[in-house]
Amino acid sequence: MLNFGPNPKNRLYTNLNSYLMFLGYLLGGRFRQDRSANETFERALRERFGTDEAVCVYQCRLGIYLAVKATISPGQEVILSPYTIGDVINMVIFAGGRPVFADVEAHTCNIAAAEVERLITPNTGAILITHLHGLAADAHRIKEICDRANVPMIEDAAQSFGVAEHGKPVGTIGDLGVFSFEMHKNMPTWLGGVVVSNRADLMAKIRAELRDFSHPPLPGIAQKVKKGAIHDIASLPVLFQLLTYPILRFSYLNDLEFINKRVRRKPQESQPAASLPEVYKSQYTPFQARLGLLQMHNVDRDIQTRIEYAQLYYEGLKEFDELILPPLRLDRSHTYLWFPILYAHRAELLQFMFEQGRDIAAGHFTNTADSPQFGEFYRDCPNSQQVERELIYLPTYPSYSRHEVERNIVVIGQYFATKVTPTTANITQTSTDVARV
Ligand SMILES: Cc1ncc(COP(=O)(O)O)c(C=O)c1O
Repeated sequence: MLNFGPNPKNRLYTNLNSYLMFLGYLLGGRFRQDRSANETFERALRERFGTDEAVCVYQCRLGIYLAVKATISPGQEVILSPYTIGDVINMVIFAGGRPVFADVEAHTCNIAAAEVERLITPNTGAILITHLHGLAADAHRIKEICDRANVPMIEDAAQSFGVAEHGKPVGTIGDLGVFSFEMHKNMPTWLGGVVVSNRADLMAKIRAELRDFSHPPLPGIAQKVKKGAIHDIASLPVLFQLLTYPILRFSYLNDLEFINKRVRRKPQESQPAASLPEVYKSQYTPFQARLGLLQMHNVDRDIQTRIEYAQLYYEGLKEFDELILPPLRLDRSHTYLWFPILYAHRAELLQFMFEQGRDIAAGHFTNTADSPQFGEFYRDCPNSQQVERELIYLPTYPSYSRHEVERNIVVIGQYFATKVTPTTANITQTSTDVARV
């Protein structure tokens, strides 16, 4: 990449095939009935995960809905991480569950095993753990807790395709695992996901429910392709450096909310509803399965690059005590979809980085445990609140250059070298610590 400006904070893992195969689907593929590509992809996924079953679904969140519904009885509690997308909570509710939020650990952003153990009651129907940012969520330990209480464990591995804990792929440690193939993930097929399991009883229920789904998938996929194309074009190296970044930087530094709000990433949310909305009742299509088979070849190579970048960040940033870094793991239990760090004066650091010509994002999830939308299930989760306030994503995607990683480290070092005394910083922070990316 030419280096007269920064690389973008995020690039999709899409490629020319992603567009060509969508075009083929649009121009005729969607009228074909042959679903053998789905079977081939599901077989490849079963082999990769070593599970008896794998079924592709229209979206990962739909897979979570189906997994919860297959597992619990209506009205039972589902213990889960509050630091996730709001729609995951919606899916638990649509499936008949009552969410019980178990706080996360700040340095991993993942659900705390001790909290899970504390919150289990005779009315617990399932534990839903989330492997966030490509980090395994202490799944073996939580599975032991679940087994003692005789409660099934579901794994939300939306962000963790390719992650393993103690050598076992995440998603296969509990009773059911769900992955996402949405366009921002590391194995994108525009939309989609897969549920994997060895539990024939649960998978039979999931397959039975899926059989009735007939909502057309095209509008949802087309919407993603449109957004993806805008993202891919705006982040093309030369265009990004000459046009996109100057606009982003100007609007960030001058607080132009009408631009900032357009570029800020927002998780997709359901419209308010009492049960699963019709738009989710779609099938995963054969063209996505063919694309998935191709994308699978890149996953391990990309993970290797991200781990190398994570090592650079870790070594370069560990001396700054005020930063909370993720654990450094070289055994595949962290694959660093980003290098997520926490910092109490996030807005100040991001401002400095933009001034120095960097493009860096704040975390974009919220703490759902105190969201007004889920007020009925409110629980005080201070660590999740801290993650919402302080999370910064340092880029690790494979086409990001090593030089850019090093430059981020240097700029963060300059920030701490020039930082005013903590007392003054605290005063500044109260008025400025509102994340704007
Ligand atoms: C942790 C987590 N769970 C679930 C999902 C839902 O994935 P999908 O968009 O494929 O439904 C996401 C998507 O961002 C996610 O990050």
